[in-house]
Amino acid sequence: MSATPVTVTVTGAAGQIGYALLFRIAAGEMLGRDVPVRLRLLEIPQAVKAAEGTAMELDDGAFPLLAGVEVTDDVKSAFDGANIALLVGARPRGPGMERGDLLEANGGIFAPQGAAIEAGAADDIRVLVVGNPANTNALIAQKHAPSVPPERFTAMTRLDHNRAVSRLARHLGAPVSDVSRVTIWGNHSATQYPDVSQALVAGEPLLPRLDRAWIEDEFIPGVAKRGAAIIEARGASSAASAASAAIDHMRDWVSGTPSDDWTSVALPSDGSYGVPDGLVCSFPVTAAGGSWRIVEGLDIDAFSRAGSTRPSPSCARSARRSRRSAWSEPLLDR
Ligand code: NAD
Ligand code: LMR
Repeated sequence: MSATPVTVTVTGAAGQIGYALLFRIAAGEMLGRDVPVRLRLLEIPQAVKAAEGTAMELDDGAFPLLAGVEVTDDVKSAFDGANIALLVGARPRGPGMERGDLLEANGGIFAPQGAAIEAGAADDIRVLVVGNPANTNALIAQKHAPSVPPERFTAMTRLDHNRAVSRLARHLGAPVSDVSRVTIWGNHSATQYPDVSQALVAGEPLLPRLDRAWIEDEFIPGVAKRGAAIIEARGASSAASAASAAIDHMRDWVSGTPSDDWTSVALPSDGSYGVPDGLVCSFPVTAAGGSWRIVEGLDIDAFSRAGSTRPSPSCARSARRSRRSAWSEPLLDR
């Protein structure tokens, strides 16, 4: 077991996702079963008591890797010395809302948290924004932490990625572990572009086994609108699957992605695929040595080349436009 515990700050610790997330972190599922963790739980004052209840349960779990749990409503001390920050705390949407409708309620949360990260987090801080609208919130936090390398601020599209992989596997009757090289481009919103053009099943191209109508009419909208379907069914937004995706995201960031696959992460663009510099956009990425790297130079297949009439967010639109321009074809995105 390594000696120094990793300090992990989780905001919104008394919420649904927090409850599904914290016990898995304490069990070593995020950073490894030999890495001790110290948890910092940040909540708003009204929810501190509930977070303290969660901390009591964490104690009662007798997790060998759990070196301590602190609960606070003080933003500055929550991030002091933090190595990892999971920014979950934010209002979820209700039925009939889009995630962008949450900006007014949630946008104000992320500037002070970014500033607190700037002021006191450890040099190796890695940030995952889960609270919606996640891409915009990540950009807000990042802009308030100018001395932290921008690529340390990420937003979660891993849930969309996992939804896409799972849906493809079920459709093809294949194990989830056989599906690789799926990409979510764009925002964690209904305008994202789940892209199967490079995907493989058991190492073979997946596209020839799919019907274009199924991709257009079921797969893409099914993935992009899954969050709303869950809200409709549960009466509350996804929680355990979101927590699981957050664990997957951080585990891959720290421990690396498999050599023959990539994942999807929203991070500040470096200009790849024509996405304006700095815009937080989901790309295909690999991780090695603790850093993400955008998968460059992906070619485009006939399906994606023909385009779709769905609206796209600016970052996905730019990405797709740049890929298409290589083929000198008209731009069909709106
Ligand atoms: P929840 O309402 O159950 O919990 C949110 C918690 O955040 C509450 O306990 C609240 O007190 C706390 N909170 C609010 N403002 C805070 C602040 N300034 N500092 C610290 N804590 C604060 O909601 P949830 O189901 O846990 O969802 C949390 C967020 O995650 C929502 O915005 C939801 O839309 C989003 N979400 C994102 C994804 C994704 O894939 N990116 C997936 C699922 C949910
Ligand atoms: C999800 O995708 O499940 C979350 O972003 C919650 C939501 O509002 O859809």
